[in-house]
Amino acid sequence: MSAAAVARVHRALATRPRLPLATLPTPLYEATRLRAVLGGSETCPRILIKRDDLTALGLGGNKARKLEYLVADARAQGATTLITTGAVQSNHARMTAAAACVAGMRCVLVLTTSVDEPAIAGNLLLDKLYGAAIRLVPSVDPMLAVGQDEAVVAAVAAEERAAGRVPYVIPVGGSSGIGVCGYIGGTVELVEQLHDMSLSRRSRIGEGGPSRLYYASGSRGTQAGLTLGAKLCAAPYRVYGVAVSAGEPEKIERAKRIANEAAALLGLPERLEREDLVTDQNFIGEGYGIPTPAALEAITLFARSEAILLDPCYTSKAAAAMVRHLRAGDIPPTETIVFLHTGGMPALFTEGFVDRYSPDMNGYL
Ligand SMILES: Cc1ncc(COP(=O)(O)O)c(C=O)c1O
Repeated sequence: MSAAAVARVHRALATRPRLPLATLPTPLYEATRLRAVLGGSETCPRILIKRDDLTALGLGGNKARKLEYLVADARAQGATTLITTGAVQSNHARMTAAAACVAGMRCVLVLTTSVDEPAIAGNLLLDKLYGAAIRLVPSVDPMLAVGQDEAVVAAVAAEERAAGRVPYVIPVGGSSGIGVCGYIGGTVELVEQLHDMSLSRRSRIGEGGPSRLYYASGSRGTQAGLTLGAKLCAAPYRVYGVAVSAGEPEKIERAKRIANEAAALLGLPERLEREDLVTDQNFIGEGYGIPTPAALEAITLFARSEAILLDPCYTSKAAAAMVRHLRAGDIPPTETIVFLHTGGMPALFTEGFVDRYSPDMNGYL
């Protein structure tokens, strides 16, 4: 990390409107018990967990950082209604509904579902609690969970205008150039915390610096922000995304486009290329939202070692990748790794998890 580089990013971010919605900074927590159950300091690197599940807004998660910039932009444009879209158990939709409450705005959620009457549980229950208006759209491909709903979103925006309101459409996952600013800011926060822990130098064996940042990658706003942020701040770690859904070629394109839109918005000359935006495709399993055995085991492992709750859709798949690599001895025990916890816990209270989970399937106990 270079202090001058970080100061430049701070200045660039300060040029954008931002509505404080999240409780920041989130803790950077050392998971000593998780390290112990994964072999201890003889074989396992030090594990730090960046607790973005604790951003607080509407039960927390990564979207709070994006929404700070998106909702501020909406307000600057005089918008009165936030419209967004996602799968029926979308964390992003839930957090947008919560952000609308804080911002004093109306919220309409266009949610894709593969069943006629989805259970009112988890995120969908919270969407209703936060008072969002909900439009359910049949899902053409529930495995992809993106992009089937543009026509409905356009129709909802037209209805809002006809009713005298001013709509602001937030793309799926909050993944736009403006949303990307959230994880550029998140990166600044993380590298400053690592610096305070004397962990800001690039890792070489024996030095103990952080070598990888594991996180779950969906609609790619987090990836774009983390990757561009790491480049801008000369972060010491490699950004290691774990994909949770298919459709990689177009997602790389989207990540590149929105990262470079963010750089342009911030007046920064750096740009990302496709090669900068690699994610691990090996932990998706059957598809989006379907937990794998390794993800279910990771949920138990984190819960029983650290009392940290992972979610069945995103963070458990990223954790499954990290656990697999640690057990295989891929990362020397002299190093440090960071796991970005992006939230998503409401999905633990849905059939998708409850019907699949059995504590007995856990391998390590
Ligand atoms: C809990 C959780 N983790 C990770 C992600 C992935 O973030 P992104 O959509 O920015 O790739 C999401 C997106 O919905 C999420 O809800």
